[in-house]
Amino acid sequence: MKFGYFDDANREYVITTPRTPLPWINYLGCNEFFSLISNTCGGYSFYKDAKLLRLTRYRYNDMPLDCNGKYFYIKEGDTLWNPGWKPTQTELDSYECRHGIGYSKFSGSKNGLKADILSFVPLKDTCEISRLTLTNESGADKTFSVFSYVEWCLWNADDDMKNFQRNFSTGEVEVVGSTIYHKTEYRERRNHYAIYSVNAPITAFDTSRDAFIGAYHSPANPEAVLAGKLTGSIASGWSPVAAHQLDVTLKAGESKDFIFVLGYVENPEDEKWESHQVINKTRAIALLAKYDTDAKVDAAFAELKEYWNGLLSKYTVESSNDKVNRMVNIWNQYQCMVTFNMSRSASYYESGIGRGMGFRDSCQDLLGFVHLIPDRARERIIDIASTQFQDGSAYHQYQPLTKKGNSDIGSGFNDDPLWLIAGTSAYIRETGDMTILDEMVPFDNDESVAQPLMEHLKRSFDYIVNHKGPHKLPLIGRADWNDCLNLNCHSTQPGESFQTFGPSEGPVAESVFIGGMFVKYGLEYAELCDLQGKAEEAARARAEVEEMRKVLLSDAGWDGDWFVRAYDSYGNKVGGKECEEGQIFIEPQGFCVLAGVGVETGQAQKALDSVKERLDTQYGIMILQPAYTVYHEELGEVSSYPPGYKENAGIFCHNNPWVSIAETVIGRGDRAFEVYRKTCPAYTEEISEIHRTEPYIYCQMVAGRDAKFHGEGKNSWLTGTAAWTFVNISQYILGVYPTHQGLSVDPCVPSDFGDFKVTRKFREGTYHISVRKADGIQKGVKELIVDGQKVDGHIIPYVKGKTEYQVEVVMG
Ligand code: BGC
Repeated sequence: MKFGYFDDANREYVITTPRTPLPWINYLGCNEFFSLISNTCGGYSFYKDAKLLRLTRYRYNDMPLDCNGKYFYIKEGDTLWNPGWKPTQTELDSYECRHGIGYSKFSGSKNGLKADILSFVPLKDTCEISRLTLTNESGADKTFSVFSYVEWCLWNADDDMKNFQRNFSTGEVEVVGSTIYHKTEYRERRNHYAIYSVNAPITAFDTSRDAFIGAYHSPANPEAVLAGKLTGSIASGWSPVAAHQLDVTLKAGESKDFIFVLGYVENPEDEKWESHQVINKTRAIALLAKYDTDAKVDAAFAELKEYWNGLLSKYTVESSNDKVNRMVNIWNQYQCMVTFNMSRSASYYESGIGRGMGFRDSCQDLLGFVHLIPDRARERIIDIASTQFQDGSAYHQYQPLTKKGNSDIGSGFNDDPLWLIAGTSAYIRETGDMTILDEMVPFDNDESVAQPLMEHLKRSFDYIVNHKGPHKLPLIGRADWNDCLNLNCHSTQPGESFQTFGPSEGPVAESVFIGGMFVKYGLEYAELCDLQGKAEEAARARAEVEEMRKVLLSDAGWDGDWFVRAYDSYGNKVGGKECEEGQIFIEPQGFCVLAGVGVETGQAQKALDSVKERLDTQYGIMILQPAYTVYHEELGEVSSYPPGYKENAGIFCHNNPWVSIAETVIGRGDRAFEVYRKTCPAYTEEISEIHRTEPYIYCQMVAGRDAKFHGEGKNSWLTGTAAWTFVNISQYILGVYPTHQGLSVDPCVPSDFGDFKVTRKFREGTYHISVRKADGIQKGVKELIVDGQKVDGHIIPYVKGKTEYQVEVVMG
C-alpha cells in the first residue's frame, strides 16, 4: 500500500494523505541553518548544532505523534484548520505534501480557500523561508484570519528540556513591527538571537505561550486563536513563542502571498546593543530585506534548485529500471548529503542532543558524498583526524560546533582508526589531491603535536598492527562497527552504558571484522604510500595485510562455511557453529569478501552462500542468526534487544550493501542486485504499510524474521546505509569506480539488466559512458573504447585538463 507517489520529473515525493504510518520528514538547509520538517509541518530548526543552537522546540515521543512545528492556522468563521492538517487535524478538502530536494511544499484547502506553503532554507543565509499563498477558489469574497506559530527553544536543547528551575525564568523577547525577536540569554554570554517575521503589517501578535495556547489547551486548539484575536503578550520567562495574526480579505479568485522568515542572527561582541538592553537589529533587518518580495524568494528558490541540479549532475544513470534511476539520480544522493551534514545528530530518531558527529559514521558518510562537494569532504577529513589520539585511536564522537572530541564516550572503538584511511583514500581517488596528506593536523585538537595527515593514517594502520590478540586478530576494544558487540564490558546492572562501562580494551577479545577492514584499507593505505614514493612503507603494509589475510582464512577466522565474527574475552568464538545463538553474523562475510579475502580459495563464495542460506529474508539480510533469546553478559548490548530488533538479528540495512558489493567481487550480478533491491526504498514503497518509514529514504533497521513486526523499518535518514548503498550501486553494480589512475568501469549487473548509460563528472572531466551487454552477462569488460580508441583493461586513463570523454563499454 502506498501513501503517495514519486514525481521524478520534479524530484519530489508526493504524499497524498497526512495520515502516513509515521511522520515522513524532509531536511531543509545544506550549510549552516537546518530544519527538519514533517509532512504535517512538524519539526524544528537549528543553526549548525542541533544541541547547542536550537531555535525552535520539539517534544520527542509525544502524543499525538509529531506535536510541535512551524504551524499556520486559518480561521474562517468557526472553522479552524491547518494547511498541513496538524495540529488541529481538521478534515481538509484536499491535502498534498511534496518533499523535494532541500524544500517542502504543502497544499491544503478547506471550503474554497486554498493554502500553499513553500518552505526552504536559502543557500546563502541562516534562515528558513515559508511562503504562504492563499487563494480564494470560491465564487464569493472571503474574510478570515491567519495565525503563525513557533515555540522557541532556549538554545541549548538539552538544558531546555531539563533545567526548568533556571529556564522558566530566562525567556525574553522584543517585538518591533512584524518581527518577533527571541533574545533569551542574549544579555549574558550569547551574541545571537532568533527572529520570526512576516513581510506584511500584522493585526496582532503573541509571544507568551500561556497567552497564545492557554495552560490547559494545546497547539490543536490555541485559546487566542479560538478567540480570533491574539493578545499582544510579551513573554517574560516561562515559554516564549512567536505568533502573528494577519486578517485577510480575498475576492473571489484572488490570491495573496505572505513571506515568513525564521532566522538566526549573530552580532559582533561590540555591536550587541542598540541601546540599554535593546538588541541591535541591523543584521536582522538586512536579512529580512533580502526576502521581502516574491521576486526575491523566487530567485533564492531558483538558486537552490540550480545548486542541486549541479550536484545531481555529477553522477546520473539512464537504465531501463526506473527505480534504479530514481534512487541513483535523486534520493540516494540526496540522503548522502543529509547524512554528511547531520552524521547521527538530528532526526526523528536521533534527538539532536545525544550523539554528535561519529568518527566512523562521518568517515563512512563521506564515501557517498565526496563526489558531490569534495572540498567539504576535505575539510571534514581534517576535522575528524584532529580528534585522533597520538597512538592512532580516536574519540568515537565529536561535537560539530566545537569540533572537539566528546569525552563522555571517549575512545576504544577499535575499528575507528581504519575508517580514517577509508575516507581519505576515497577523497584522494576522487580528486587526485595528494596535498591533503601533507596537511598538518593536530592530535586531540592539540596543535603543538600536529603531524601531516599521512602520519595520522600510518598511526591508524599501526594501531591495528599493535593491538592484536591471541589469534593475531585485531583486538576489538569497546566495540567495532557493531556498537552493540561489547565483549569487554560485562555489564550486569541496568543503567550502565554498554559503550562506556568496563575496560576500554581487554587482551583477549578480538574482531574478525576489523581484520577484514584491515585488508581492505591496509591495501588502500599501501597505495597511498606508493603514490608518495614510500616503497618500503608500502611493502611493510602489504606484508602486514598478507599476514592478516592468512589469519582470516585459517581456522582462527574461518568456521568451515563462513567467517567467524569475533572472540569474546574468554577466548570463545562469537559467530561460529559451536555457538547456540549467534552462529553466523553478516559483517565479516560482507567485509572480508569485499576486501577480496577468500576469493581465490573459494571461501568467499561459500561465505556468501551461507549468508543467503541462513540470513536472508524477503526484506533483506539479517545481521545474525539465530537471534539471542537470553542476555549474554559476555557479549553486551547485542543480546539486550528482543530477537529481531536492531543488532540482535534485525535487518541492519547498513551492512546489506557490503554483501551486495561482495557479490559483485565474485561476479554474481543477479544476487548483488537482489540484495540491493530488498532494502531499496523505491521498491519498499509498495509495502509502505509494513515498512512504515519514508519510502524515499533508507532507514537504519528493518525488523528481522524473529520480530513481531517483521519488515517494519525504524530510524530513517541518519544511517550509513545511504553512503554504502550509493557506493554499491554507483561503483560496484553500475561499476563506475574512481581509482588513482582514472575512472574504472567494471559493472556487475543482473543478467537481464539491459544496456545503460552513466554520466560521471570526475575531476575536470565529464565521462559519457555507454555500457552494452548481451542478456545473461553479469560481469566482465570485453571492450573499452575511449574517444574511439581501444583501451586495455577497464580503467579510463586520466588525462589532466581533459573535459569530455566518450566511453563505450561492451561487457562479456
Ligand atoms: C551507529 C554506527 C554503528 C551501528 C551499528 C549505529 O547506530 O551510528 O556507528 O556502526 O549503529 O552498531
